[in-house]
Amino acid sequence: MPKKKKKHGEHYRLSKPADDTSRAYDSEYEDKDGERYRYDSDLGVGRYAEARLFKSIKSGKTKVVLSPVLDDGHPEEPGGLSFTPETEASFSSLKESISKYAFFKALYPKEPPFLVCKQGTYRIVLPKVAGIPYKQTPCVSAFDAQIKEALGLIDALSHAQDNEIVIFDLKEDNILFDASTGKFSLIDGGLHKLVGDRLSNAFICETDAMIAKYKVKCPQIAPECWALKDKPCVKADFKMDIFSLGYIWRKKFIDPIPLISHIIDSCLLEDPNQRPTLPLLKEAFRRLLPIYEVSDEESSSETGSVVENYELHRSDWDAYVKRSVSNWLYGCDSP
Ligand SMILES: Nc1ncnc2c1ncn2[C@@H]1O[C@H](COP(=O)(O)OP(=O)(O)OP(=O)(O)O)[C@@H](O)[C@H]1O
Ligand SMILES: [Mg+2]
Repeated sequence: MPKKKKKHGEHYRLSKPADDTSRAYDSEYEDKDGERYRYDSDLGVGRYAEARLFKSIKSGKTKVVLSPVLDDGHPEEPGGLSFTPETEASFSSLKESISKYAFFKALYPKEPPFLVCKQGTYRIVLPKVAGIPYKQTPCVSAFDAQIKEALGLIDALSHAQDNEIVIFDLKEDNILFDASTGKFSLIDGGLHKLVGDRLSNAFICETDAMIAKYKVKCPQIAPECWALKDKPCVKADFKMDIFSLGYIWRKKFIDPIPLISHIIDSCLLEDPNQRPTLPLLKEAFRRLLPIYEVSDEESSSETGSVVENYELHRSDWDAYVKRSVSNWLYGCDSP
């Protein structure tokens, strides 16, 4: 009998029956070059998914495998599913996994994710993103540290926006910070949509009371994302993630100077049209960088005047700040 040819190509071998959704520690992932990865350690846990680190014995290369989800028969149809405690878990499983897969595919194209479908269970194999959850890093009080972190996060979000992605659920657990490079990276993306697309039904509520409840439960999510079932659908907009940025900075930055505080407040405005765009935010923070770190001349002189004014006019700093920020962000004076 001819020898059975070894099957090449990326695949995932379950060590247990496919309908067993337990963690299946001795399962194995094989990449397209035939390199094999086995369970190494637990990496992190979110509200829905557990992440396990898989490692190749040969090269030490790593992958992340998320816990399996079931095809539970709850496809997301318009008006079909609301974000109630009863349906929250079922909504989140398959739909969220596929969204995460698409999110990683767009943001990490050099090491694309792999979706494993085995008899009604779904797992995703992801690249291991460097860093620790931003939630685990201490809050910052130093002026220049706040600016560096703000600019780092703006860069990470710019990468998403360059790919037309709106995240909605941008929060500290879904941002990794790599201290060795100072780089921020985004993970998860389970609720993301492309800009202009209709928001997930996860944001549709039955009553005003439920909207109020979820605004409290998920304070990082922009208020305009929540909508009543029979109201016109809400479209994904970059300004939604600007709100989340403001929320993160408000939590992370201890006693920011009034200028930074005012920038944060502008991100948190109820009216999305009043919030700054990401390029404007970047410009505002760049102008605050200490003089020695700014390369181009124009920014140096602007920063110099900001710092001098802070020293000279502490008493009317607030009025000065409001005027400056309005000028930078909107090209006009405050009303
Ligand atoms: N690709 C990755 N690289 C590194 N760590 C990861 C990766 N994916 C997940 N993690 C870790 O596992 C945790 C849980 O993963 P994930 O955010 O996907 O789960 P979740 O349940 O959808 O989260 P949430 O509570 O935000 O809904 C993350 O906070 C992170 O610590
Ligand atoms: Mg998460």
